[in-house]
Order: sequence, then structure tokens, then C-alpha cells
Amino acid sequence: MNHFISIADTPLAELEHVMSVAKWLKAHLKSTGRNDPILAGKTLAMIFEKPSLRTRVSFAIGMTQLGGTGLLLSRDEVGLGTREPVKDVARVIASMADGIMARVFQHQKLIDLAKYSKVPVINALSDYSHPCQALADLLTIDEHFGKLQGLTLAYIGDGNNVARSLAVACSKFGMKFNIATPKGYELPGDDLKKIHAKMPEFAVDVRPTPTDAVRDADIVVTDTWVSMGQEEEKAKRVAEFKGYALDESLMNSAPKQAIVLHCLPAYRGYEISEAIFESDRSKVFQEAENRLHAQKGILAVLMGGA
Ligand code: CP
Ligand code: NVA
Repeated sequence: MNHFISIADTPLAELEHVMSVAKWLKAHLKSTGRNDPILAGKTLAMIFEKPSLRTRVSFAIGMTQLGGTGLLLSRDEVGLGTREPVKDVARVIASMADGIMARVFQHQKLIDLAKYSKVPVINALSDYSHPCQALADLLTIDEHFGKLQGLTLAYIGDGNNVARSLAVACSKFGMKFNIATPKGYELPGDDLKKIHAKMPEFAVDVRPTPTDAVRDADIVVTDTWVSMGQEEEKAKRVAEFKGYALDESLMNSAPKQAIVLHCLPAYRGYEISEAIFESDRSKVFQEAENRLHAQKGILAVLMGGA
């Protein structure tokens, strides 16, 4: 594994290895209060074209806990593809840092960074995918159910970056993926075909309504209806996503054991109700914490030779 840009392009054995390193690092941190400094003297350059809480905090603290440093670079400082071509930024950073993590608007920028960087590049969210989030979600699901294989995850809402990465992650790990989206917000069919071409096990079960999607679910997931960069579409989206909120009435249609995940930030009263967000079914803060442990698994494998 040279980079971590997409789950579809990462072999299952390597993903399983990252997950097991993440679990081991988490257990070690919890039992001893520290991790070994396997990234001592190493630096991760972190480029953010969009806001972030979890991703920024987890990568920065993850680097510190592994003995290295996270160097924060804002959009305006770097000017990825505007102040300077992406391929030049990649070569400059790679000549000094040991890894590059980037949160970008256009997924193509990640592909270009990876093409021109001799150090690992990590996708910290693009318009297309959010693979780090999907790994943290799998860790959370595994912790709760003690397994992944055979479980069913239902995603309700926007067919976006988070939905796509979860769909791919579920298929990789032998889970079923149900999805219900409003008309016009589906995961695009041509893209699903492309993923299927490189990953024959890829399967998405499109359900006509949220109720149909959650009926057999072990995990129910939603995400914001208005992703970063779509703020101008908010009024239209809020109107078109009516009926797609994860609320008490919808969760009453899910099996009793079903848990709720949300990558956060959550917009109560829109994609999720306050009552469900704060209910015992909601594991969103365990999920958020697992961003730290998942990130460390990725860093340890890519930059520490774990
Ligand atoms: N879930 C997630 O990626 O959160 P941030 O946008 O705060 O990093
Ligand atoms: N779909 C959201 C996820 C935020 C973590 C976005 O792209 O803004």
C-alpha cells in the first residue's frame, strides 16, 4: 500500500492489516496511556481546502502519539492548483515531509498528488469519497457487534462521498449495503458500474424508501444533506430531502439491535433528530473517537512500516 486514496483500490488484506494495527494501537493506548514512537522524526503535511474538526484533530494528535509531527497547511497558503500546480506542490512537499494528507474539493487533485509524490498521500475527504471515515465506521461496527461479515448497513440521505466510501467498505468486508436517497441524489449509476468493474463483489441494494432500507439493518447511517461546497443549494436540498430524516418514527421500523452512526458534524432537525442523535442507539462519539485510531492505523502502515 503506497497511498490511501480509495478503499476500492486497496486490497482487502491491506485494509484488514490497517484495521488490526488500528485496533492494536487503540488497545495499547488505552492500557498504557501511550504508543511507541514509531514515527519519531517524521512529518505529515496536512492540506485542508475545506473546514475540519475530526480529521484535523485526529491526524495531528495521531502523529504526536506516534512520535511525529503534523504540519497544518491551509488552502490559501498552499493554493493547490491555483497558486501552484498540484504536481509541483506534490514534489516540493515530498522532498521534505514523510507523508501528505489532503482534504480537497476535486478528487482529481488527490490522484495528481499521489502521481507526483514519492511519499504516501492520504485522502482526508474529497467531493468523491471519504475512506478514512469509512474505516473508522468499520472499527466502530466491529467493536459493537464483534464482527463485520454478514451485517447489513442502511444509509439514508444523500448519495455523496460518505455514502460511496461506506458502500465500497461494506462490500469489501462482506457486509450488505442498503441505500435510500431522494430522487436526483442517488449514487450515480455510471460510477457504480466503474467501481463494480474493479471490484466484482461490489453490491448496492437500492431501496425505494427509508423505511424499506432500515427494515433489516444492523447499522443505520446518515450524513448532512448539504456537504461542504454545496451551501448555496441548502434551501432546495432541505425541501427535496423531506421524509429522509433519521428520526424516531424511522428508527421504529429498524430492528431493535440497530445502532446509529453519523460522521459528524450533524444538523439536528434536518438529517437526524435530536432524540435519535442523543439516544442509546447512537454511537456517534465512539465513531468520532475511532477516527483517531483508524488514522493511526493508516499512518503506522504507510509511514511506519507497520
Ligand atoms: N467526519 C469528518 O470528517 O469530520 P470533519 O469534517 O470535522 O473532519
Ligand atoms: N459529506 C460531508 C461530510 C463531512 C465530514 C461533506 O463532504 O461535507
